[in-house]
Amino acid sequence: MTDIKIVLRDFSKRFNEDLEKYFSFPEGAEKRVIDAMHYSLTIGGKRLRPFLLCECANLFGVEYQTALPAAVSLEMLHTYSLIHDDLPAMDNDDLRRGQPTCHKKFDEATAILAGDGLLTYAFEVLSNALEIKPAQRLALVQLLSSAAGSFGGMVAGQTLDLYARSTGDKSSDEAIISRLEEMKTGRLLRYACEAGAVLGQANEQSRRILVDYSRKVGQAFQIADDILDQEGNQELVGKTLHKDDNQNKFTFVKYYGTDKARKLAIKLIDEAIEQISVFGEKSENLKSLARYIIERNY
Ligand code: IPE
Ligand code: IPE
Ligand code: MG
Ligand code: MG
Ligand code: MG
Repeated sequence: MTDIKIVLRDFSKRFNEDLEKYFSFPEGAEKRVIDAMHYSLTIGGKRLRPFLLCECANLFGVEYQTALPAAVSLEMLHTYSLIHDDLPAMDNDDLRRGQPTCHKKFDEATAILAGDGLLTYAFEVLSNALEIKPAQRLALVQLLSSAAGSFGGMVAGQTLDLYARSTGDKSSDEAIISRLEEMKTGRLLRYACEAGAVLGQANEQSRRILVDYSRKVGQAFQIADDILDQEGNQELVGKTLHKDDNQNKFTFVKYYGTDKARKLAIKLIDEAIEQISVFGEKSENLKSLARYIIERNY
């Protein structure tokens, strides 16, 4: 397998440079919100979603430059979700990507606006992307808005994350956690893979394989996030640890315990790797990425 850490590092370097091209800093008081958007977007981040999107597109021969605006808009939308996730009214976090959260660095109102700004700018970037054919652009706008939204998308998942409570029945609880995680984390990761299929005009069968892969990777990704919250090294993770226990979050790790959750994540990743292998040599990075997702320490 490829050394995915090096591949990801090289990708991030190129992607971060390209990201700067989407920013200008107007004079005047409104510069504050642009500074806050830019701050949260560039202080760190593994860039897993843009990488996934570009790799999935690459399976069908789509070049990085063509996929770039879709990857940029996804990272903007993801960063908006993190800024809002950290707000005092949500997870009330002080640390993100190893730096003060947006509302700590600026203030709460600016952080709300920076989230709004990134969410809307994401769709501006995507819909203006002349590299992508109009029909595909529209398909991506539709897919991204539903992945991010409140009807089964990320916003719905965040709502469950804040308000879902145990029913006292094991199988109902498992079903709730599964739905919660699939929506709050899974949908944007699934979008990353489906966007690659749309850009590559993949057939139904290929698209289905990518959706299956992303579902499994998404669930394993959130389990890894929850294990890191319990057992990680705060310096490396770059987020405050033990938030989930302290805030009584409804997670698989809490429900099954770390060992069983880790076993489930490994099983999901093994299956995802097997499925994606049908794409042959071009799927090497996607296979390594899947493994890295559960072995990462940040
Ligand atoms: C964190 O996502 C939020 C979750 C969905 C668990 P990442 O772990 O991908 O965060 P960054 O982008 O690397 O900061
Ligand atoms: C956040 O999940 C998911 C989204 C931002 C949609 P978490 O609350 O577990 O993410 P972290 O741990 O703060 O990154
Ligand atoms: Mg949260
Ligand atoms: Mg959080
Ligand atoms: Mg977490």
